[in-house]
Amino acid sequence: MSFASPKKIENKITTKETLLTPRFYTTDFEEISKLDISKNQREIEAIVEEFRIDYNRDHFIRDKEFYKTWDSFDEKTRNIFIEFLERSCTAEFSGFLLYKEISRNLKNVNPLLAEGFSFMARDEARHAGFLNKAMSDFNISLDLGFLTKTRKYTFFAPKFIFYSTYLSEKIGYWRYITIYRHLEKNPTYRVYPLFRFFESWCQDENRHGDFFAALLKSQEELLNTNEARLWCRFFLLSVFATMYLNDLQRKEFYASIGLNAKQFDQYVIRKTNQSAKTLFPVILDVNHPDFFPLLDKCADSNQKLCDIDRIKVFNIIKNILKLPYYIILIINLLKIYLLKPIETNYIWTIS
Ligand SMILES: [Fe+2]
Ligand SMILES: [Fe+2]
Repeated sequence: MSFASPKKIENKITTKETLLTPRFYTTDFEEISKLDISKNQREIEAIVEEFRIDYNRDHFIRDKEFYKTWDSFDEKTRNIFIEFLERSCTAEFSGFLLYKEISRNLKNVNPLLAEGFSFMARDEARHAGFLNKAMSDFNISLDLGFLTKTRKYTFFAPKFIFYSTYLSEKIGYWRYITIYRHLEKNPTYRVYPLFRFFESWCQDENRHGDFFAALLKSQEELLNTNEARLWCRFFLLSVFATMYLNDLQRKEFYASIGLNAKQFDQYVIRKTNQSAKTLFPVILDVNHPDFFPLLDKCADSNQKLCDIDRIKVFNIIKNILKLPYYIILIINLLKIYLLKPIETNYIWTIS
């Protein structure tokens, strides 16, 4: 249960979509329902049992501190906070919809997985709801019903959903815990009470990541083949680059809570890469002297693409202007992809 906001919500907003906006996903539910998870059933059962305990049932309760008026935020800070809340809420809600839909489709054929996905949907719904409630502190709310109906859904094959959501959950964990620990040490920057909730919140994301890790381990071919090695590298790079390019466009938000966006992201990337070491056969060499400089070149190209988007000219002209920056972006991403990866020596053969 949460306190109702005393303020009237003035605006329901919908989000603008760009290449890096949090997306909504759909997948091949029938293929997931046919998965044989017997090779790692026990670990999956143990994680579902942990979900059932529901450690955070009473965690997401708004307290008095939220009642403060946030009108003292200057317009710029207010807008960057709203954008942060909006993007976070969309990402959490996207997780809720996907997990809920997978759970619904698996109910009669794979009750264990259905239950696991249903518990994760429960957590994501709480996270999204809490963020949407936070938006009401700024007299705004995200129209989740409208979003569900109108947003385009991107199709991802089940294995790609598993790799990407495993990494998204783990990177989410590192993002939340890093912000929490930073604000614990520097309380003057804790300008909004939401961040106080991140410590237990991120444990939800960590458990979700563990669920996907257990699921991936039940499908050995997703972790111990040459093809798997290429996909692991691809998804590590995609998740890292998406976060980096997004966050470097939003340096002001991180500065408002006393963080340097670049340092924060580099720390989170290193930590998530280390987490993936306990699952993936290979991880990226983030300490290679070219790794972050190449990622910075990608971020520069992305900035140019955003700048071009703001010019008031015909779309065809914009596309022509954008083309060289897309090429530079792709070339630099390819260069990072081709850096020699680090072997983790993890070979999953569970009997
Ligand atoms: Fe979440
Ligand atoms: Fe999650």
